[in-house]
Amino acid sequence: MNERLQEEFPIEWEDDHFVTRREFFRFLTLASGGLALGTVAVAAYSKIPKGQRSFDPALICKVADLKPGTSLHFSFPRPSDLCLLICRKDGKYVAYSRRCTHLSCPVQYEVGDHVERLYCPCHNGAFSVDDGRVLQGPPPHPIPQLMLEQRGDEIWATGIKVGEEA
Ligand code: FES
Repeated sequence: MNERLQEEFPIEWEDDHFVTRREFFRFLTLASGGLALGTVAVAAYSKIPKGQRSFDPALICKVADLKPGTSLHFSFPRPSDLCLLICRKDGKYVAYSRRCTHLSCPVQYEVGDHVERLYCPCHNGAFSVDDGRVLQGPPPHPIPQLMLEQRGDEIWATGIKVGEEA
């Protein structure tokens, strides 16, 4: 029986063992190559410039149009980019994308005695009005914040903060 096996599979145990070891080292080489590539990719991602991206300024509203603790919807920079301008309880203006970073449901400004946040009703997600960071729920990233300028009695959108991790 062994002789017949030897005839049908004419590989010596030593060779067979050698091939297995070679395959193992090939696997090790590929695995460490994959790890090296992954490390390079992470390093490259971390070097993506964070900062601000400017667009043609767009008038949002007059200062008198918003009272502290209220918000209004607008689009910037394209008509399909829905945004939210907020006049915070302390009178400061901030603006954010309305598109939740989870599954793109529109967020809403929620304000009360003990709460002030951007709330997404789809899956109970919430973002900070301070900087857009995730406060709760499944959103994987902060919500993009817009750059604003007050020009006299007008509020203008001028750009979007890019790659900001709160
Ligand atoms: S879409 Fe906003 S939490 Fe899921």
